[in-house]
Amino acid sequence: MSLDDINMLDRSAIIRLLAVAPAEELYRRADAVRHDTLGDDVHLRGLIEFSNICRNRCLYCGINRANKRVKRYRMSEEELLSTAQRAAGLGFQTIVLQSGEDMHFDQARMCRIIEQIKRLDVALTLSIGERDYDDYRAFREAGADRYLLRIETTDVDLYHRLNPGMSWQRRHECLLMIKELGYELGSGIMVGLPQQTVESIADDLLYLKGIGIDMAGIGPFIPHPETPLAHEQGGTLEQALRAMAVMRLLMPDINIPATTAMESLHPQGRIKALQAGANVVMPNVTEGEYRRLYELYPGKICVNDTPAHCRSCIGLKILSIGRTIGQGRGGHISRIEK
Ligand code: 5AD
Ligand code: FES
Repeated sequence: MSLDDINMLDRSAIIRLLAVAPAEELYRRADAVRHDTLGDDVHLRGLIEFSNICRNRCLYCGINRANKRVKRYRMSEEELLSTAQRAAGLGFQTIVLQSGEDMHFDQARMCRIIEQIKRLDVALTLSIGERDYDDYRAFREAGADRYLLRIETTDVDLYHRLNPGMSWQRRHECLLMIKELGYELGSGIMVGLPQQTVESIADDLLYLKGIGIDMAGIGPFIPHPETPLAHEQGGTLEQALRAMAVMRLLMPDINIPATTAMESLHPQGRIKALQAGANVVMPNVTEGEYRRLYELYPGKICVNDTPAHCRSCIGLKILSIGRTIGQGRGGHISRIEK
């Protein structure tokens, strides 16, 4: 098929792109759309993994609560703030706070943390899972700008098999609440889940477009040895890159990160992603032992590196492919005054 008219991307065209279109041609096309719509800037976000304690039992996730072999940690408020301060000092203008669903960080505690981090004059993204409306509202009023919550898959049966005790409908409603509250909304999926089909990935991408996301995180599923999915096959870099590239064609102006999971499958994974539609990278700014303990999947990169090392490493990689480092906060362009 010709990739000429991206507006013609209906479900069957998407399926063909995901499954049979020449990969390199698809990547080039997504790269051109990214270039023409957003230019060459790559925006950096400093990712802080502040607790690996989680109330859920997602079958794919290495920090799910049934995994008794992980040493659990939770940063103190002071540690979290000093980590954020150092990240801001390294030049990050967006800080992402990510954790398991750790209810120790209740509404009051989270709001206190949000208010203090916002004094650093950065954009703040939360990635702390499902909460009730009142929490999302309070976090937003405290100053949080963006929220990441992947839908993971839109195959409802698959979702319920993978996420015991959770509800797909509930997660969908969380995304709607987050959007309604005026956050920039990030969502996304894993590619290569057991029994996930190309058709269902096409539906996922159309769903993400349908709810009007501002950011799409798409990564390969990587089986973790201490989970029930240890012996599954997992996704490939190509499957994930294809889905990401199609997402770019479907939504030319959103932010799309080159995901860490892609680099965990291939030493050039993030660079390949940046050349196939991505325009964001989220280097880890977590310090010390915590990096290694926040193991959602095996083979996670940079576990022995420092925030400063990762900042300069990824900066050099970005420059080496002729791209530039975004100087502002790098919000979704349709939502900010340029
Ligand atoms: N492989 C790849 N990605 C994973 N995630 C969780 N577990 C895995 C895994 N085994 C992703 C989920 C989650 C995000 C924070 O990490 O999509 O939303
Ligand atoms: Fe961490 Fe390169 S980004 S070492």
